[in-house]
Amino acid sequence: MLRLCCILSVLWVAAAHSLPPDKVSAFHIIKTRSIDLNNAHGLAMETRLEKSVKPTGYRLELEPYLEDGLFKGHVSINVTWLEDTDEISVHCAHEIEITNTEVKATFPNTKEIQKVSVKRVSMDIKKPIVTLRLEKSIPKGSEGHLVFGFNGTMETENTEAFFKTTYMEQETERIVAATQLRPNNARRMFPCFDEPGYKTPFQLSVVRPRNMIALSNVPVARTEEITGEPNAVWDHFEMTPPMSTFTLGLVIAELNQLADSKQLQNEKEDSSIELRVWGRPEYHQALEGVNEKLFTVFKEIANFWRVSLPLKRLDIVALPNYQGVKPADNWGLIVFKESDLASKGYLQLAQELSYQWLGAFTTPAWWSDAHLNKALVGYLAAETAFKINNGSEMEGKWPMTVLYSLYYEFSKRYPHSRITGMKQETASTKIELLFRMFNYTFGGDTFREGLREFIKERKFKTFTGDHVWNALTAAAIKDNKIPKDLDVRTIANSWIEKDRLPLITVKRNYKSKSAHVTQKVYLRERPHDVPDAAKMSWWAPLVIAREDALDFNKGTTTIWMKNQKELEINDLPGEEHFIIVNPEEIAPFPVNYDDENWRLLANYLQTNNRLRIPELTRAKLLHDAWNLAYAGDLAFATAFNMTLFLREERHHLVWDPVFTMIDHIGKHICECMHEKFQAYVRTLLTPLYEELIKDEREDEENWRKNLRGHTKTFLCQAGYAPCIKEAQEQFSKWMQAKNPDEGNPIANQYICPVFKYGSKKEWEFGLQRVINFPPSRKQSERTYLLKTLAGCPVDVYKINRLLNLSVLEGNGNFTETDLFLIFSMVSGSPHGHTTLFHFLNNNWNDLKEKFQSKTNLWDNLITSATSQFTTQAGLELVSNLYVAHQGEFGSAEHIIEKSMRNIREEAKWSDANLPVIDKWLDWYLSVYNVNDKVAKN
Ligand SMILES: *[C@@H]1O[C@H](CO)[C@@H](O)[C@H](O)[C@H]1NC(C)=O
Ligand SMILES: *[C@@H]1O[C@H](CO)[C@@H](O)[C@H](O)[C@H]1NC(C)=O
Ligand SMILES: *[C@@H]1O[C@H](CO)[C@@H](O)[C@H](O)[C@H]1NC(C)=O
Ligand SMILES: *[C@@H]1O[C@H](CO)[C@@H](O)[C@H](O)[C@H]1NC(C)=O
Ligand SMILES: *[C@@H]1O[C@H](CO)[C@@H](O)[C@H](O)[C@H]1NC(C)=O
Ligand SMILES: *[C@@H]1O[C@H](CO)[C@@H](O)[C@H](O)[C@H]1NC(C)=O
Repeated sequence: MLRLCCILSVLWVAAAHSLPPDKVSAFHIIKTRSIDLNNAHGLAMETRLEKSVKPTGYRLELEPYLEDGLFKGHVSINVTWLEDTDEISVHCAHEIEITNTEVKATFPNTKEIQKVSVKRVSMDIKKPIVTLRLEKSIPKGSEGHLVFGFNGTMETENTEAFFKTTYMEQETERIVAATQLRPNNARRMFPCFDEPGYKTPFQLSVVRPRNMIALSNVPVARTEEITGEPNAVWDHFEMTPPMSTFTLGLVIAELNQLADSKQLQNEKEDSSIELRVWGRPEYHQALEGVNEKLFTVFKEIANFWRVSLPLKRLDIVALPNYQGVKPADNWGLIVFKESDLASKGYLQLAQELSYQWLGAFTTPAWWSDAHLNKALVGYLAAETAFKINNGSEMEGKWPMTVLYSLYYEFSKRYPHSRITGMKQETASTKIELLFRMFNYTFGGDTFREGLREFIKERKFKTFTGDHVWNALTAAAIKDNKIPKDLDVRTIANSWIEKDRLPLITVKRNYKSKSAHVTQKVYLRERPHDVPDAAKMSWWAPLVIAREDALDFNKGTTTIWMKNQKELEINDLPGEEHFIIVNPEEIAPFPVNYDDENWRLLANYLQTNNRLRIPELTRAKLLHDAWNLAYAGDLAFATAFNMTLFLREERHHLVWDPVFTMIDHIGKHICECMHEKFQAYVRTLLTPLYEELIKDEREDEENWRKNLRGHTKTFLCQAGYAPCIKEAQEQFSKWMQAKNPDEGNPIANQYICPVFKYGSKKEWEFGLQRVINFPPSRKQSERTYLLKTLAGCPVDVYKINRLLNLSVLEGNGNFTETDLFLIFSMVSGSPHGHTTLFHFLNNNWNDLKEKFQSKTNLWDNLITSATSQFTTQAGLELVSNLYVAHQGEFGSAEHIIEKSMRNIREEAKWSDANLPVIDKWLDWYLSVYNVNDKVAKN
């Protein structure tokens, strides 16, 4: 008897540190994006400065001593008093030493500027805040300035705040000094009002070595010699437009400009901006083409906004040894890691350029609004990259990867319970998808118009979500894209406020050509007993594609489900034509239909007309059907019928959800049906695989490589004979090696299939390698081997042999950690956990004694041996054990009780679904499984 799931667990564990499978593919995307948000969460809690004065301009002079990593500075901050006060607080990190202060003010009545003496300068012990106590209160409406002399050390541990780093070139060490002041690091460079809402002009002067250049947000106005200092000069920069402290930027380094900078003319406003790229001379070759790329992306984004940046030029720098996970997106000066700027894609560049508008030109009012900013930037960057190169760097997978992760996460009983840090990230991803939804439902023109109005109104200011939503509402109403009683803010908030998504169910009435539409919370994990589920509802757009007028490009009208639980829609096609609601994943929700509509869809997909439905929609139909069946909302026979068209399907996007579902359903099917299910998997995947191996090329696209790899892995796990043969041939090389313990000559992918379908002898050979594993070799290799030895076999003999040896006989080559590993791996396969159960049952007294003082191991054994059953028969086994040894479970008493509760729930699923699955598989195999290549084990 064969089981699939255990093997997959091995595979996924190895591949992605036990993330759930849906997460695996999305993980790399999420990882690279998560930095600023994790930050933002903590930042939202930050204490804010008193609003007694506000800054209106900075004059900042910096003298860095690069060799020593020190700097001296002087800042004069123009301020206006907003209330009568004798106290002023500014941000200033503890590492900054304030050497002198001075305050001057012009009182509203006198017009004369006066010096006000400072009684005390005190630094808050915990917070990076300095407070000046003045000799007298200054009245509201006064203007003046605060002056600070200060010094500090440059950051050298990382590339944050005002940092210094070095690199080697031509065998000499070169120094770089630069800033990354996002999100709140300006206070580590100079005393300031370090909150995004304070937008003021900056006038910066900096001393630099003569052989380097200094770049900042704006061009240098003049360079000044320093008397007695032949090797350094002052660079005085122009005044910047009003901007937040975190967008201030500075780079001092030996950089050269890449030839052929581009000038971009703005026709309408009669302004222009110069786009320049900088790098060290030795790196210029790697940056070839970046000028053109920058020009293309900038033009695209500028054309989206049609509101020119108030900048004469934009500098893009490839900074040697810059370590930041994200580029430093100063206004007018974006600093990249060298390799990031040299890389092929457009997405990151598009993101960084978008921040010049959203983030710098207009800025989130507070850090709690940062995820909205990020979502909009993320959406626009993806759209831009798509426009430029068809999204080829994302292989067309946006928004699918992120969307499927959301479906998976939000349909759990407890969303975010596993990876808490993801919460902010998923929140932002969801908003990104909402922007996509509005773009579709209003149409691109209206959507753009709304956002343009938004930026026109908010430039040089800050914004909150409401500013964005209200601008979109105004545009949509003006263009008649939504009914007057709708507003975007209400719609958006119905999605943003909850960590759930709706499931829309469409039951057609074929006689009256109408349909009854309902919404409820989408729950996949059972039991579906989520508190407040009944109260939740959404404002959901219903876009309908219909077979009798199939056109996915033309904007169809949207029917809004206005927070209603149910809705009637009319004028649908007749009984011979299907409908598709929410095609192209316009809004993030799955859709269920009546059986007849599913049947029409399944049949259509099996015809050559299939390609008239775009791949993202084909994938959605498949994804929704299987997940709904898994959730218990759709009959499996219907869901399985939605896979029949895969015989002809070759698009990787459509196959994407298939592997996850094979894994999930494989895990839920009882042992009794696994052989059939695996035959189904082989039948499903073989035609695709045989075609994919025909045209293997070195320079092929990634998706093709990945698809072939996935298909092969899943076929191997399902016992596809050519694959097992290949694995055994490889494995025999190891068995013939003179000193097999010196190292493993074969790729990991071959090991599991051999332990699963190979002989006892081959498995035993593996076991001996674990026993004799030399301490000098990498222990992770031993761990991998032990995991596969325990998790892959389906042969009861192999599992018992391992358990006898390591547990009963207490062979000293196995540590306690090994036992934990063995239990958990064995329990991952139905065959394994059943064997483990019997092992426990048969050796109860021995085991009880052995683990008497090892509560953790005992608890782990009881969990592994009892928790994985899913049927009535399994429940009986576990209950009998419970009764037979009542009172003897000790610390594990509550564990077995919990197991029985869970099995009861699982058994309900099995009772309802297994007979249907069994019958369908019988039918399917009798029709399609004619040339099955199965390995005998
Ligand atoms: C500060 O105020 C003075 C006097 O009003 C003005 O001349 C100067 O330009 C201001 N500086 C900045 C950076 O705004
Ligand atoms: C900062 O300035 C003070 C006073 O001039 C001096 O004592 C101190 O050593 C300076 N610190 C650094 C790091 O230069
Ligand atoms: C983008 O994809 C479309 C449709 O798949 C195709 O017609 C077009 O040629 C592609 N464009 C580029 C630049 O690859
Ligand atoms: C599944 O498809 C087969 C073949 O088209 C058909 O005979 C069967 O009725 C379908 N089952 C369901 C539940 O739609
Ligand atoms: C494991 O041990 C039991 C008894 O202790 C024995 O009956 C069984 O044959 C052993 N199985 C293997 C595969 O060694
Ligand atoms: C490891 O296993 C070998 C072979 O079974 C045995 O001879 C040896 O004593 C074991 N080592 C320990 C520390 O028990």
